Amino acid sequence: MKRLLTLLCAALCGGLLLASAQPADGHRISRPGSFTFGPATTIAADAALEPLARYLAGYLGCAIRNDVTGDGVVALTLDAASDDASPEAYRLEITPEHIRIGGCTYGGAFNGVQALLRLLPPAVYARQGLASGTEVACGVIEDAPRFAYRGMMLDVARTWVGPAGVMRYIDLLACHNINKLHLHLSDDEGWRIEIRSHPELAEVGGFRGGDSPVKAVYGKWSEKYGGYFTQEEMRGLIRYAAERNIEIIPEIDLPGHSRNIASLHPEIRCNYPPDTVSTNGYDYRSAWCVAREENYRLLEDILGEICELFPSEYIHVGGDEVDMSQWKRCPDCQALMRQRGMNDPHQLEDLFMERMAAILARHGKRPAVWNEAVRTGGFTRESRVHGWESVKACLDATAKGYQTIVMPGEYFYFDMRQTPREDGHDWAAVFDARKVYGFDFARAGFSAEQLRHVVGLSGAFWSEAYVSHEPEKPDYLDYMTFPRICALARIAWSGNDEGWDAYYRELKEQHYPRMAAMGIRFRLFPPKVAYAAPKAAGGSGVLTVTSEEGTEVFYLVDGSDREHRYTGPVRTDQPWKYRFYTRYGTARSPYAADDSRWRTIRPALVIETSMGESERFPYTNASTYRGLARTRRACRQQDWILYTFEKPVTCREMFLQTGNRQLPKTIITTGYAEVSYDGARFERAAELEKGSATLRPERPVKAVRIVSTCDDNGTPYVTIQPPQVLPRL
Ligand code: ACM
Ligand code: ZN
Repeated sequence: MKRLLTLLCAALCGGLLLASAQPADGHRISRPGSFTFGPATTIAADAALEPLARYLAGYLGCAIRNDVTGDGVVALTLDAASDDASPEAYRLEITPEHIRIGGCTYGGAFNGVQALLRLLPPAVYARQGLASGTEVACGVIEDAPRFAYRGMMLDVARTWVGPAGVMRYIDLLACHNINKLHLHLSDDEGWRIEIRSHPELAEVGGFRGGDSPVKAVYGKWSEKYGGYFTQEEMRGLIRYAAERNIEIIPEIDLPGHSRNIASLHPEIRCNYPPDTVSTNGYDYRSAWCVAREENYRLLEDILGEICELFPSEYIHVGGDEVDMSQWKRCPDCQALMRQRGMNDPHQLEDLFMERMAAILARHGKRPAVWNEAVRTGGFTRESRVHGWESVKACLDATAKGYQTIVMPGEYFYFDMRQTPREDGHDWAAVFDARKVYGFDFARAGFSAEQLRHVVGLSGAFWSEAYVSHEPEKPDYLDYMTFPRICALARIAWSGNDEGWDAYYRELKEQHYPRMAAMGIRFRLFPPKVAYAAPKAAGGSGVLTVTSEEGTEVFYLVDGSDREHRYTGPVRTDQPWKYRFYTRYGTARSPYAADDSRWRTIRPALVIETSMGESERFPYTNASTYRGLARTRRACRQQDWILYTFEKPVTCREMFLQTGNRQLPKTIITTGYAEVSYDGARFERAAELEKGSATLRPERPVKAVRIVSTCDDNGTPYVTIQPPQVLPRL
């Protein structure tokens, strides 16, 4: 963080404190006295800051006037730029007579407004106006961000989030001093932005399932669903974001992740017959052919309109996870490689991306790309790299001299689950806000030279698992991203020198009330559950819960949906039946329970299916509880998966799952589970829900079978998870 002032003193004054705020405010001087908000308090701004005055009035409920001088005013001013100051630096001065917020840019003044809001009671974030008589202590804060890029990526392609949802999210990000919103607008499963020269891209590609040529892969087959932004709506969002100091950076993901557009324009694909047998006729190819010259004309049309629409200097053109096996099988791509003397398909990606860069350059823009696009180091240094695969990928990009946004999945992918039993992915890591806060450039291995190439940090929320979490409600998005975004915003603004304990205290005491006032359904840390067994507890066992202060504890008992309030230790001899959680306003924690609840057994079993066995993911992966197995082909009506136990199994619950955990993809879309007590006669016991079924057999089970009632599952195979068997206790 930039040193702007020497810290002179930090005294309490008049019982009010210039409270520590998010992000940590840089340099502050406390002065005696306070400013009191009343009916006569007004907001006034220099002409260029009028939208900011309206924004602030929306929180404070004050009237706006023209004159920035005089008493009783909250004045927003554009100050002269100084050579060494960050464009986003601000100065906030509070005297008994007035409040002055200045910055040399709109963004600087916006940051000063955020600093003022953080000094006010948390209720201000509910936007119901400030109570007359509210006081704020006098003093001066001068501060500037550590990084120019403090970003968040939202995937609106896999799960559609419409204008109102994005607007709400922009408001939440803005209050955390996040200043970039990277919108992932296209992927295999959705195209979310109107392209006027090719209206079918959004009008058709924005909807999948039902009668759409874009097949569903995430669970809803019969229903056609989705949406897209018109250019007019996007212009509104860009303006709305800019007024909140957020730049929207669009992404069209190229040349891979393009199955959606290829479903509408099959001609963009490579020139070889598709493999449609194993996928029930679904052409699974997802990359643009590099050798097909007409492709670049279509891309010129698309990117030309994107450049026209978005004011951002950088346009993200993807570059990640290209399935290059398509280029290897394409005679035209192979001929191009020979003609250019290439021996590595990554050079083909370089060639494709250089052509994207050339299109962007003609429109006065630069490319942003995922880190794979700079693997060879051949791609233009004009580009900005988003390092996602690992810390090493970020180190590599910065070592090669690329301007880099650091967002390795194991710290910044907020679609990862936060503890092992919560929802979300786990392929990058399982982590909560504490790990995000702990990201340390020096420990991660960045040299001073590499650090000079770091433009900033970004979080990401990929939305393939969101589809199963009622995206029309923000619960899952909020839960997954807050308070991890708080931690990200803090380290992007000022670092983490104060240490986790101090930051966690601040999180609880200051951020929780603010987030609750904003209506964020954020995640609380789980309570701790201890069980004293009957012997130790003198007769009956006792469950005791400790939780974050200020939260209320509740619990559920298996067999009922009734919510109980926890008021003291609970007596029981069956601790595994209890799940505890906490609430704080709109927030809630994950479930916590005695360890006995989660205990599983691994009875010996054999798995067979009617769909053949994948060579790479054999049945034994799942039957030995080591990992997942796959079938050789997609499922059709009456296909089955049979689990036969070596000895009949006694259990209180058995969970059978197809598909990846939390991802309603590669599942048996519709079907049922049967149970057999003798291995010969089967009875229907449960319907599949998102590819899974829970059985609670009364007797020892010899075999269970999942039977498909769907014609297609939209992917080339079915994933089989090991069964989760809970013992009788
Ligand atoms: C990515 O996660 N494929 C950028
Ligand atoms: Zn090709």
